[in-house]
Amino acid sequence: MSHIPVLLHESIDGLAIKEGGTYVDCTTNRGGHSFEIAKRLGKKGTLVCIDLDDEALAEAKKVLDTVVSAPTIHFANSNFRHLESILSGLGIDQVDGVLADLGLSSQELDSSGRGFSFRFDEPLLMTFRTLPSEEETTAYDIVNFWSEATIADVLYGFADEVYARRIAHRIIERRKEAEIKSTHELVDIIASAVPAAYRHRKTHFATKTFQALRMAVNDELGSIHELLASLPKVLRQGGRVVFITFHSTEDRIVKQGLRNLSDTLKIITKKAIVPSEEELHTNPRARSAQARIAERI
Ligand SMILES: C[S@@+](CC[C@H](N)C(=O)[O-])C[C@H]1O[C@@H](n2cnc3c(N)ncnc32)[C@H](O)[C@@H]1O
Repeated sequence: MSHIPVLLHESIDGLAIKEGGTYVDCTTNRGGHSFEIAKRLGKKGTLVCIDLDDEALAEAKKVLDTVVSAPTIHFANSNFRHLESILSGLGIDQVDGVLADLGLSSQELDSSGRGFSFRFDEPLLMTFRTLPSEEETTAYDIVNFWSEATIADVLYGFADEVYARRIAHRIIERRKEAEIKSTHELVDIIASAVPAAYRHRKTHFATKTFQALRMAVNDELGSIHELLASLPKVLRQGGRVVFITFHSTEDRIVKQGLRNLSDTLKIITKKAIVPSEEELHTNPRARSAQARIAERI
């Protein structure tokens, strides 16, 4: 399934884009939001497109090539936690806006082959980078080598999985027999650890475990914290930041993080913006999305 940009109009309006300004899309993917930003910047503007997924970034380049009167566009295949150094490497001091549409795209979920979804039987990678290096932690490393207590903490801490301890215990039992290599092996383990009623709920019983492992593999909350910390320095006065989150753990970090920066950032959205009925109708995957906007004082 191709990725439909979420809260597109709300986030573009939220950035209050100035023609000729400098903007950063921290999570470019295939350029859904970047395309709309680029159209509004004009030739004198600058857009920095960041993403860890190099294949998605290559697709974004093609899409952005079609923008008429395009701004100067820089691509950075990097983690947005390095925003400050990415910008200084490009000779950019401060910017007028930063967008972070967190999590993963529909293509990454459905067809990356990296094990993000419990629906497909794939190797347990879950890295945003398409080809993780030898040193990078993968979901395989977590389930096969991390301790029972740490796995339980990951499942509970990152996704509020109520059966975290039972699932972690079953993972440890199973890996004594053989290493756990694929998503479907992991799904079987989770199924055998949780009660029958949990297996038959509307939300798939593996959802939280998969979300938590992905967050741990990519240190997603650590990256958000570092991005937040860089905002006072990176945003020009009057500059805007827009965060789009997809689950409560992420949203809590963003909401609290923006509040903690109240000396330098004014919160524009007292309540998070959520998708309209119309958007939910055309894109049900937007259902848990929330946007929060703040402005550099
Ligand atoms: C929800 S998608 C963005 C979709 C895009 N806004 C659009 O509508 O076309 C999130 C993207 O962020 C990337 N990503 C997630 N965490 C990242 C990080 N810490 N640094 C850089 N990219 C990251 C993922 O690889 C993915 O491509």
